[in-house]
Amino acid sequence: MSDLLFDSIVEGKPVKLTKNGKELCVARVGNEVFAIEDNCSHQDAALSEGEQNGYKIECWLHAAEFDLRTGAALCPPATQAVKTYPVSIDGNNVIVEVL
Ligand code: FES
Repeated sequence: MSDLLFDSIVEGKPVKLTKNGKELCVARVGNEVFAIEDNCSHQDAALSEGEQNGYKIECWLHAAEFDLRTGAALCPPATQAVKTYPVSIDGNNVIVEVL
């Protein structure tokens, strides 16, 4: 049972996933997949609608950037990290651990 199919996730095109009542932004970089909370720590904007460039994702509203690996805020106006969620890949199945 997977949350997403690996080959359905296109690098540079993050997707929104809702699991256990939480909204997540899931993004692929090469053979890796990352999941962060789908809400910018600056205001209320979905990061899954932002622009991904490698491990960075830029919020569409005021252009804060976050590191997909750590959730760290990389530039203003955001100063706080967003939460990250563990992802496992089993063949074509992507599972995000949301407790
Ligand atoms: S809401 Fe994301 S940078 Fe302002």
